[in-house]
Amino acid sequence: SCMGDNPRVMTRPHRFSDIADRFLTRRALLQGGVAAAALGFTPVGRIAGAPARAETPGLQFEELGRIGKDEPTHHVAPGYRAEVLISWGDPILPGAPAFDPMAQTAEAQRKQFGFNCDFIGYLPLKDGAATTAEHLASGESAHGLLCVNHEYSTPRYMFPGMKNSEAVAANSTPETIAVEKASVGHTIIEIRKSGGAWSVVADSPYARRIHAETDMDIAGPARGHARMKTDADPDGVRVKGTFQNCAGGVTPWGTILTAEENIQNYFTGVASKLPPENAREAASADSFSVGGRLWMWSTFDKRFDINVTPHEFNRFGWIVEIDPYDAGSVPKKRTALGRFRHEAATIVAKDGKPVVAYMGDDQSFEHIYKFVSARTYAAADVAANVDILDDGTLYVARFNDDGTGEWLPLVHGQGGLTAENGFDDQGDVVIDARRAAKVLGATETDRPEDLETDPITSRTYVAFTGGTDRKEAAPAAPRAPNRRGHIVEILAPGSDGDRDHTATDFQWDILLLAGHPEAETNAQGKYGPGISDAGYFAQPDNLVFDPKGRLWIATDGADEIGLADGLWACAVTGPERAVTRHFFSVPVGAELTGPCFTPDGETLFVSVQHPGQGDGGSFAEPVCRWPAAMDSAMPPRPSVVAITRDGGGPVGG
Ligand code: FEO
Ligand code: CA
Ligand code: CA
Repeated sequence: SCMGDNPRVMTRPHRFSDIADRFLTRRALLQGGVAAAALGFTPVGRIAGAPARAETPGLQFEELGRIGKDEPTHHVAPGYRAEVLISWGDPILPGAPAFDPMAQTAEAQRKQFGFNCDFIGYLPLKDGAATTAEHLASGESAHGLLCVNHEYSTPRYMFPGMKNSEAVAANSTPETIAVEKASVGHTIIEIRKSGGAWSVVADSPYARRIHAETDMDIAGPARGHARMKTDADPDGVRVKGTFQNCAGGVTPWGTILTAEENIQNYFTGVASKLPPENAREAASADSFSVGGRLWMWSTFDKRFDINVTPHEFNRFGWIVEIDPYDAGSVPKKRTALGRFRHEAATIVAKDGKPVVAYMGDDQSFEHIYKFVSARTYAAADVAANVDILDDGTLYVARFNDDGTGEWLPLVHGQGGLTAENGFDDQGDVVIDARRAAKVLGATETDRPEDLETDPITSRTYVAFTGGTDRKEAAPAAPRAPNRRGHIVEILAPGSDGDRDHTATDFQWDILLLAGHPEAETNAQGKYGPGISDAGYFAQPDNLVFDPKGRLWIATDGADEIGLADGLWACAVTGPERAVTRHFFSVPVGAELTGPCFTPDGETLFVSVQHPGQGDGGSFAEPVCRWPAAMDSAMPPRPSVVAITRDGGGPVGG
């Protein structure tokens, strides 16, 4: 979820050709094979005369019917089963007590599954393997590590006696804040599938909780930078914790990348009261919208008060790399990848080529980024890729009206990223990446959540969640305001299956516009032909590809058109391109996050985040108590669900 987005008015005028109409024209082309030249626009993608190849196989499952937004439980397509694997508070580490919502302690929460699960990464485990390389090569799909983000705490739903924001302010204590700090970050568990059902391995040596007080290293160009130094860390090299961990990625060298998103929510303070030497910190705090008091951490811990510890805020908003195969490893903040409301960090890696990471900044009118490593990826030598993300070039995207685009380098000394504009070195550029992006003229987008690259075609997709108060349409943002979100396709140069993701040019198209297909003009959804009455959605958010190259789309805000949030899937090439089908729905109050497949495609893990939350609700009065029954005494608990097909086989057919 993306709490605390403060859209600001976009005033920059934009020349605009009717991209939505062009999209429809392209759709007609795909169906009818009309000559592109006759339609008077520059064709892109597969319309450009490229032979049809590597078409995504269609999906073969009986669609789940349309599910309204008030359902008290989850639903899955017929022929599949969806079982809760782990819930907030479940024991993870040795000595962890069973979850007792009326007697929570920080000590217990540090050993239990955290709150508000989000991104999920799966990494294989092979019995008897001695090295990460052997585990990875096994492709083991019935035994692995499940690596799960915990985005943020919600005291109103975590503790009794906090039924509204006044009660949260009055009743928060050092101990409840310590529980909150322990409930966020990341969990690593070992899991096994036996008899078709998944379970958590007890007392695993891999089990780990990472939270807001876990020591981690600062790596890359901001390591040791003057603006990263605090009294607690005078060298600017070590930071306590990670939080607001939303989306993420898995690297082919066996690590997890976790994205720190809405970091501003845990900080308070008044940017205008910062002294002149902290002018850059003030600008950053304004950009992120620090200041609305939503959480109480700074009351009990002054590192979260920007007026007391101005540099602490610079130490969050990064991609953090975690080695889940070594429970003693120190997580590293990879500052070369820039600092913003980070979403995703999805890797494209080819042996002997630089590694590419695609990322988004989930705030209205912020940007899409990619990082290209200086060193090349060594597929046969896992250890050689450690720290490869510390050195390379960060780029930000500019989309043009004509279906082309450029990746603009965020390199100190180039394009106005100089001392005159407040960038003394590359450390300044990465700390203030969003300010640097605006200096370069990057395209302002509609809240990019997730980016994924199709394993078959190598095309890249961006989910824009929307909900943006856009005044004018723009390239890759065809609707103003953008209330329902959309998905954009980015084509790195090359052909399907062979694209150069390190290149600085690209072409783009629109895969779909979300919304009800029969809504009025600007809110109307546009999908592939033949979509069913259950196939449409709103506010696409997290994405994942299955091993066969079908795109799975999670939503955060489908309730705005009366639907339960959930998961839809479609092919991205062939006759079923953008014909989305409904697969799974989450209970009332929840959004779906973190979809993740095992390597064999036979299990799909999803996170059910903030179930039971609704207007005026609380711990004592949730709108549902999922996964418990409504007549139970349990609060609703964010949980990971494992989805498999009855009798086995790939999810989606
Ligand atoms: Fe945490 Fe952008 O959703
Ligand atoms: Ca999300
Ligand atoms: Ca994803």
